[in-house]
Amino acid sequence: MAIRMVGVIGYGLMGGGIAQTCAQSGYETVVCEVNQPLLDKGMARIYAAWDMMASKGMLTQGQVDENRSRLHGTLNMEDFADCDLVIEAVIENMEEKLRLFPALDHILKPGALLLTNTSSLNVTQMGAVTKRADKVCGLHFFNPAPVMKLVEVVRTISSSDETIETVRQFALSLGKTPVLAKDTAGFIVNFLLIPYLLAAIRMLENGMASRDDIDTAMKLGCGYPMGPFTLLDYVGLDTTMWAAEAIYFEYKDPLYAPPPLLRRMVQSGMYGKKSGRGFYTYE
Ligand code: CAA
Repeated sequence: MAIRMVGVIGYGLMGGGIAQTCAQSGYETVVCEVNQPLLDKGMARIYAAWDMMASKGMLTQGQVDENRSRLHGTLNMEDFADCDLVIEAVIENMEEKLRLFPALDHILKPGALLLTNTSSLNVTQMGAVTKRADKVCGLHFFNPAPVMKLVEVVRTISSSDETIETVRQFALSLGKTPVLAKDTAGFIVNFLLIPYLLAAIRMLENGMASRDDIDTAMKLGCGYPMGPFTLLDYVGLDTTMWAAEAIYFEYKDPLYAPPPLLRRMVQSGMYGKKSGRGFYTYE
């Protein structure tokens, strides 16, 4: 099946990065948000990224203009009616996803694929509330989506071979390297990454080392681009906690239980870089 027009629902950090990636890869891209200020904020972030890329010589002004002309914002999900593929990137809340999926199923044309960018929630359950479970799968991007090369293609017990192959080819057309994961909480990356991040928080809680020394140790000792606290702030403490809770819910393995400090920081609105404060403070 040929993909020409892509829909993205949710214009946060991930939805914005995904929409940017699709539009700059040549796809007509429609992004839907719930209100105009959020839509404007999402647009401004992508325009700024393209201007930054042009200033570095990564894009010509002509390419920036073309990218802009392919990116369309809307407040109305009905505008997804002509899309060949829609990627859901709203808040990591299952109730919200289970409300959205039947609504999208109703709007989308019969052959269209319905994907979720969830990092750890149950994709099979999202497919099961639609009449197109064979056309539902996960396509999990990593932050920052335009830069990180990996995507996880998440196969449910109902996803068809054709859906998975189309989505794999779509990922390649975005310049990404797809890996295939079964629909089990955390897929591949978060199943491994979350226990590492939570262990760093527990080390800090227990006074085993300082924030800065833990970050420095993992950067310089293991060659990671960011230490765990910088990465936690970058990914979002709220997002990390939701992912941990989803995996804990599935396996009841204490490795995935959010440490008290993480929960309290999230309860205090310290979400990391996006809220100006997490383990570090941002201007
Ligand atoms: N669009 C296009 N290009 C962008 C961009 C954007 N929105 N944002 C940044 N870039 C480009 C920059 O222009 C720069 O390009 P050049 O190297 O050609 O100049 C490049 O990306 C790197 O950016 P910076 O120079 O600003 O910063 P950096 O070199 O320190 O790298 C980083 C930043 C890529 C984020 C790096 O620190 C890194 O890889 N960190 C780890 C990120 C990570 O682990 N992400 C996964 C988190 S887990 C997750 O997302 C899943 C989940 O479910 C929780």
